[in-house]
Parts: sequence; C-alpha cells; structure tokens
Amino acid sequence: MLRLDGVTAAYGQSPVLFGIDLTVADAEAVTLIGRNGVGKTTLLRAITGLHPVTGGHVHLNGAPIAQAAAFTRARSGLAYVPQGRGLFGHLTVEENLLMGFPALSGRPVTRREIPELVYDLFPICRDLAGRKAGNLSGGQQQQVAIGRALVTQPRYLLLDEPTEGIQPSVVQDIESALRRIRTDLRVAVLLVEQYLDFAWSFADRYYVMQKGRIVETGATADTPAHAVQRYLGV
Ligand SMILES: Nc1ncnc2c1ncn2[C@@H]1O[C@H](COP(=O)(O)OP(=O)(O)OP(=O)(O)O)[C@@H](O)[C@H]1O
Ligand SMILES: [Mg+2]
Repeated sequence: MLRLDGVTAAYGQSPVLFGIDLTVADAEAVTLIGRNGVGKTTLLRAITGLHPVTGGHVHLNGAPIAQAAAFTRARSGLAYVPQGRGLFGHLTVEENLLMGFPALSGRPVTRREIPELVYDLFPICRDLAGRKAGNLSGGQQQQVAIGRALVTQPRYLLLDEPTEGIQPSVVQDIESALRRIRTDLRVAVLLVEQYLDFAWSFADRYYVMQKGRIVETGATADTPAHAVQRYLGV
C-alpha cells in the first residue's frame, strides 16, 4: 500500500499542495485527474522524492518514505514515468533503458539485467534498440519511457499524462500494456490523466484535484466520467 496523509509541498514560499490524502493498494489502478496547474506533477514528484514535501506523511508498505532519497524509494518499489517522457533524445533506446530511471535505483544496470518483460510488453525496445530516442514518434517514446520505468521491476508505477500528444491508435497500445502490467505483473498504477475516457476505462478508483487539494474521490464504476468532466473543462 502506498499511503499519503496530509502531504504538503511548495515552490519557494508558494504552497502548491495542501494536505493531500491518497492511497494506492497493491495491484490497484488509481487515476488522478485535474486541470492544468493544479499540482498533479508536483504530487507525483513528491511521492518519488524528486520534489521535497513540506509536511505530512508518505508510507510505502508501512515504512515512512517522505524524507527518503529518491533512489531509496526506487529501491523500495516505486517507479515514475515523467510528463513529457523525459528520455534522453541523443541517446539510443537501449541507452535510455540502462541510464534513465534505473539510475535512480542507485546502481548501474547492464544490458543483461533488462528484464525480458520489458521487451515482451514493448517489442520496440528491442526492435529499435539502436535508434536515437529523439527520432522516435511520440507513442514510441512513451513506450520506451514506460519500459524504462519497468527495468527496476517496481511494485508501484506512477505515470504522468502518458497519452499527452499521442495519436489515438497508440493510446490503445499503451492502455493494453498498462493492463498487462497491472494484471499479469500485479504492479499498482497511479495514473495522472486529462484524457477521461482512458482514465475511466483503466482505473478502479479516481481522485480529482483542484488547486492543490483533493476535492472528490470514488470508484470509477460508481461515477460516470461525464460527472467529473466539469473539473477538467473550462
Ligand atoms: N519549477 C516551478 N517553480 C515554481 N512554480 C512551479 C514550478 N513547477 C510548477 N509550478 C507551479 O506549481 C503549480 C502546480 O504545477 P504542476 O506542474 O504540479 O501542475 P499539473 O497539475 O501537473 O499541471 P499540468 O496539467 O499542466 O501538467 C502550478 O501553479 C505551477 O505554475
Ligand atoms: Mg503536470
């Protein structure tokens, strides 16, 4: 279980997160939605240790991690696919798999250590291994970015708007891969999304964020997506 209690965060003197309570159970799929600028990315970065929390608690399987280094959290089973994918465009796909998020685990990864499941889920990681990541399409880059996060074989995968700027046909590929990550690998997923149809078809539960606060939560099966659309629309 990943558990947040009263998490706060700021940029300098400006508070951005105001007492966030949120849980993700083992192998659960949870989505966090909200308009641009409400603090979704800041929250994911606070969970992974890339942004400091100013208050509250974060527990992973009962252990407090809010003050732990990012690599410690990665070793404890957290992985993160950043908004905009965060690949090194001038490096090859394989170099990205070796050098990106796995570096956070605190030790270098060798080619042999890339688990087969990464290639199984995303064959382009093998097929395009020698290509520069910057030359791939947005959808291909997203698959590499998710594959890279899986190199450390996490128990919790945090994804920041994986469908942003990706064509609909590829969104389906990403959705089916995420389903397998969840059901076959039993990895819990916290998905930040603004594409509601995708978020609702994938997630068991949802949280809505507004101006740094969670304002609504529930089961996606109990609430139609259009009932929360107003939180996203203008
Ligand atoms: N590096 C930064 N320095 C100062 N303020 C920042 C910084 N990054 C984000 N902010 C501000 O913090 C708030 C939350 O930003 P955040 O990126 O977490 O929102 P978001 O919900 O992920 O938005 P989006 O949907 O556009 O990705 C916004 O008001 C933003 O302007
Ligand atoms: Mg964001």
